[in-house]
Amino acid sequence: MKIVAVLYPGGEIAKKTPELLGCAENALGLTDFLRSQGHEFVVLTDKEAELDIHLPTTDILITTPFWPAYVTKERISRASRLQIVLTAGIGSDHIDLAAAAARKITVAEITGSNVVSVAEQVVMHILALVRNYIPAYKQVLDGRWDIAEIAAKAHDLEDKVVGIIGVGRIGQRVCERLKAFDVKMIYYDYHRLSTVEEFALGARYASLDRLVEQSDIITINTPLTPETDGMFNRDLLFRMKKGAYLINTARGRIVDTLSLVEALEKGHLAGYAGDVWFPQPAPKDHPWRRMPNHAMVPHYSGTTLEAQRRYADGIKDCLLRFMNGRRIERDYLIVDNGSVVSPSYSYAFKT
Ligand code: NAI
Repeated sequence: MKIVAVLYPGGEIAKKTPELLGCAENALGLTDFLRSQGHEFVVLTDKEAELDIHLPTTDILITTPFWPAYVTKERISRASRLQIVLTAGIGSDHIDLAAAAARKITVAEITGSNVVSVAEQVVMHILALVRNYIPAYKQVLDGRWDIAEIAAKAHDLEDKVVGIIGVGRIGQRVCERLKAFDVKMIYYDYHRLSTVEEFALGARYASLDRLVEQSDIITINTPLTPETDGMFNRDLLFRMKKGAYLINTARGRIVDTLSLVEALEKGHLAGYAGDVWFPQPAPKDHPWRRMPNHAMVPHYSGTTLEAQRRYADGIKDCLLRFMNGRRIERDYLIVDNGSVVSPSYSYAFKT
């Protein structure tokens, strides 16, 4: 079988850091295993021209959200041998799921592999914005000391209303971690939790409109689907409370690029943070790099060294099962047997 993996370049750091499993050089620790089994294993960092050369002869494609190879309908149409596309991480929106389903290509991701990693990052982004950390740190680097300038925009997190959009694996872990800060939590999800679950998390259900209008801080934790694509458009951004903060570690396309810049430039929002962009890597002139009051980083929250180990193990498990004719772990399946089967995606793909 021919297996192709498209992974981010690790460069010199990869050689010194074997635990950096998610990069092309260390190839999820799969090289010896796959070659010893007699498979052809090709690892690419080029997700355009070189991928296109290999696609027609590829049986299994491994991609990652951190360096997404966009597996479009057109690419799928040329990948005549492709049977399975695996996502090393969580979030398979870089794959045209409807086109994969139509061709009966299986799509799977490593569900749960980096949910703690992202939940921790969400809490960090919230604190960085609310406590005005980035400008304070910049002052230190610039040799300045102006308490008034920093303190005039620094707040306590305590007592703030935090709105969690999408209360799945990551969203719930965010709630658990925020409880210690004595915030008021409301959530929106199209799967409403039971009263017992709401009590345990300390979060009350709210409609999307009410959540947006009442929250001081909003964190987005849904997948990118046709429903959430552009969900935070100009209207929703300007319906947020004046001076509110928005955190997005879900996917860049959930927030409208230029409307966000406008909301920050006009001072309607006090800050925006996250690690997800569209496209990725973000071009040098991406407007979010230069917009005011942001705390953006490259897409890395779900690829800590611990997370890389977990999703590398998960990919190996999928490969072993597939090659031995066993079913892939049910929770990992996004597209199976011609349908979008993941509960988090399927609502948006119902015909
Ligand atoms: P999950 O499937 O456990 O939870 C997603 C939740 O969103 C579910 O409760 C679902 O009902 C809800 N949802 C889906 N569509 C919705 C809609 N239109 N309106 C309201 N709620 C909706 O997924 P998990 O593990 O919590 O991950 C969520 C997303 O986070 C991933 O799909 C991915 O895009 C992103 N992610 C980002 C990472 C990063 O490194 N920045 C790493 C891992 C995930």
